Amino acid sequence: MNDVLEVLLKRKSVRAYKKQAIPAEVRAQVLQATLRAPTAGNMMLYSIIDVTEQRLKDRLAITCDHQPFIAKAPMVWLFLADYQRWFDYFLQCGVEEACEHRGVPLRKPEEGDLFIACCDALIAAQNAVIAAESLGLGSCYIGDIMEQYETHRDLFSLPRYTFPICLLCFGYPTQGQIDRPRTSRFDGKFILFEDRYHPLTGEEFVEMFHKRGGSDAPSNFGQSMYFRKFNADFSVELNRSVRAMLKAWSGG
Ligand SMILES: Cc1cc2nc3c(=O)[nH]c(=O)nc-3n(C[C@H](O)[C@H](O)[C@H](O)COP(=O)(O)O)c2cc1C
Repeated sequence: MNDVLEVLLKRKSVRAYKKQAIPAEVRAQVLQATLRAPTAGNMMLYSIIDVTEQRLKDRLAITCDHQPFIAKAPMVWLFLADYQRWFDYFLQCGVEEACEHRGVPLRKPEEGDLFIACCDALIAAQNAVIAAESLGLGSCYIGDIMEQYETHRDLFSLPRYTFPICLLCFGYPTQGQIDRPRTSRFDGKFILFEDRYHPLTGEEFVEMFHKRGGSDAPSNFGQSMYFRKFNADFSVELNRSVRAMLKAWSGG
């Protein structure tokens, strides 16, 4: 197995960190790999906020659905989908006057632009995760950063055409985290389809969860996941928050 595949296959989320600082050269290497991520139109439609103030980390540990380990992470990066930088640049370059001159309306960032910016930010984030892993650093995504849009906007002075799409916590893993077994995944045959989408049958669901080492009674597990994850308070808040952001993004 080559080194890249080994890093990809051995990686797991790390949620407990040694009290060991991350050297500047290691941070620089992670950043360098992050910035080399593919990016739509080579526009780099993302920004990263390196959260260094303990006060901010402590706040995030609460606002991101009460996850205390965030406050203990030596390095916390907030990834923003960011169309603000380019739209500011367009305005600075006189596109408003140019549109008027051509008799066409000025187009502002819309939902599709937000999706592309989210793609850029997430792809860059995953480069950071893999680069960090290759340097012995563990990491964990925090999706709950998409909750509490208004609070996070104010906390980090975020302008209209930005959205915090993920938070990454980094640190050297404790022995407990190193020893913890990897999580399982669904078999590839339930994920990779040929040419067209394949809705799963009842038997296939049984096989899918059985192969993963889970329950043979998927209805129970499905119900528990529905209430524990899909319809949990944090999911309800996530959807409220994203709706609020979309309203602000489109000028509502
Ligand atoms: C979009 C996204 C959001 C996530 N949010 C959280 C989170 O808020 N808290 C957390 O502890 N883990 C979070 N995770 C990590 C997942 O729980 C983890 O990737 C999953 O359980 C599989 O485990 P593994 O990464 O160790 O293989 C998130 C992962 C992704 C990709």
